[in-house]
Amino acid sequence: MERKDFLKLIGILPLIITGVKSRAGEVSNSVEGACKTNRDAEGPFYKAKAPERTVIETDGTPLTIAGTVLHAADCKTPVANAIIDVWHCRKNGEYDMEGFKGRGQLKTDAKGDYSFTTIFPPPYSGRPRHIHVKVRANGFNELTTQLYFEGDPNIQNDFARNAEKSRVIALSGNDVKKGTFNIYL
Ligand SMILES: [Fe+2]
Repeated sequence: MERKDFLKLIGILPLIITGVKSRAGEVSNSVEGACKTNRDAEGPFYKAKAPERTVIETDGTPLTIAGTVLHAADCKTPVANAIIDVWHCRKNGEYDMEGFKGRGQLKTDAKGDYSFTTIFPPPYSGRPRHIHVKVRANGFNELTTQLYFEGDPNIQNDFARNAEKSRVIALSGNDVKKGTFNIYL
């Protein structure tokens, strides 16, 4: 190879390498389950058989969470009739272990959509504000996870700092805070 050809080759090497990298990136973003919602700790305060309701708790700052349950296989097919079992602490930072305050189960509709209204849970024991959920649907493994809130300073001190973006909810609204949480099974 002549020197000038060699220099030309050296010149285009970074382009070749970049091309490989970006193609590899596209592949890794399109693999099956790339959008899958990650598991998170169940913690010690879950109680089975919470009542079915979409208004879970009213004593505190109102918060509405809405979203869609979707197949992680293609990131878009809705999952109808999925049960979302929700629990969180009350405004005093404690979980109701005697009854079912701060607890409720609801179901997705034919389009996979759901919503519930509850309170903006306070932080407790140095943890960031969070809501626990278990999601059950025919044909899928049960998913136990937690959702967090964007801008919460306690996230960095907690395992929550590793949560993927879809589990860190951005809130809008003042009187009633609103956020979207899409769940990929
Ligand atoms: Fe908790």
